[in-house]
Amino acid sequence: MKTQISSVSARQIWDSRGRPTVEADVLLSGGARGRAIAPAGASRGRYEAIDLRDGGDRFGGFGVEKSVANVNGEIARALFGTNAAEQADVDGRITDLDGTPNLARLGGNACIAVSLAVMQAAAAAEGLPLWRHLSQGRVPRLPLPEIQIFGGGAHAGRRIDIQDLMVMVPGADTVREAFEITSDVYRAAGRLMSDAGKLAGTADEGGWWPNFSSNENALEMLVRAIEAAGRRPGEDVFISLDIAASEFFHDGRYKLARDSAEFDPQSFVEKISSWARRFPILSIEDPAAQDDVPAMIRTTQMLGSRVQIVGDDYLVTDSARIAAAAKLGACNAALIKINQAGTVTKARRALETAKVERWATIVSARSGESEDIAIVHLYVGWDAGQLKVGSFARSERMAKWNELLRIEEEMGADARFAGWGGLPEGLTRQPAGGA
Ligand code: PGA
Ligand code: ZN
Repeated sequence: MKTQISSVSARQIWDSRGRPTVEADVLLSGGARGRAIAPAGASRGRYEAIDLRDGGDRFGGFGVEKSVANVNGEIARALFGTNAAEQADVDGRITDLDGTPNLARLGGNACIAVSLAVMQAAAAAEGLPLWRHLSQGRVPRLPLPEIQIFGGGAHAGRRIDIQDLMVMVPGADTVREAFEITSDVYRAAGRLMSDAGKLAGTADEGGWWPNFSSNENALEMLVRAIEAAGRRPGEDVFISLDIAASEFFHDGRYKLARDSAEFDPQSFVEKISSWARRFPILSIEDPAAQDDVPAMIRTTQMLGSRVQIVGDDYLVTDSARIAAAAKLGACNAALIKINQAGTVTKARRALETAKVERWATIVSARSGESEDIAIVHLYVGWDAGQLKVGSFARSERMAKWNELLRIEEEMGADARFAGWGGLPEGLTRQPAGGA
């Protein structure tokens, strides 16, 4: 057998925020190699896999030497001689070895780096690009991208409360066209900020720094940017928001610091609904806090027939949480972040559960990223429908978008853009905004 694991090792390297992260290397008996880098979130859900950090003064406490030592020691010993082609078995061993529900002992960062590196090694042993290894002969769709134009929340010093203001181009014919349109919107947004004397660099995921007087001002500016790029908001280009509401939900109230306004859950749902009426919004992620399930259900009831309602912090790429939410009628789409799950197998299970519920699925990067582009292949191989990797700037983002272009080219005549079909089934296509 050529796919026996003969060594697993790790090192501390640096992510897109200049923070330490784990890189794992896997070598197989037949000589194939796999390498992967753990991403890291800043606005994390309470129930996701926990990264192991060294703490103390060094590197602001973000060091990962303990996590690296766990890979080089316990994990390497447990995986030695196992078959890399059996991803579920390998991931099961990692999870069992850890023994906690959230991988806190070995570190979610250690576990996901190894899990991904094993997958890369197995694909290399087959001599296939990762997406082909994963799609097993099927020709999957190319994703509808969600691309950030303004970054906010935890990724921009909480300059505004909304975390991501993104655009989607579901009517494009190809990924290439969706990118070309988005690039025009991104540049137009920068120009408008500059003209208004508000240009102040970019946030963690490459979106423009949100120098706005209110959250709604950011929404208005995004509509203007779409128009300035020569596109029709709500027809050619739509808005997608990640509210990341857990970040500003305290003592039972939603506190929009930029607006100096506070809401009880009921009135916050109303506020979100009013934005969905006034602006051409097609998707809203985490419109309510992770434990405010009634507000998540209510938002889905009010908007779910025409707006994608995505669970991120609420669902944390967990199959059981997705199934429970679907039963309650909360959300119609799941964000899939591999490091929330901690292993590739667990992330895939969450994605499959969401598909069974006829939800949309979005494979997502984290705000702390690297040159690792594996998630693009995961997306394509798993036929997830949508992909979210941040803005249209900064190489840790562009490396991923560019890889998608290469895959589109490689598919040739077989390439099919998911477009509207990447969104939840039955979403009515009514132009929103200004209604
Ligand atoms: P994070 O944010 O990677 O900082 O958690 C991304 C998101 O909330 O979608
Ligand atoms: Zn989110």
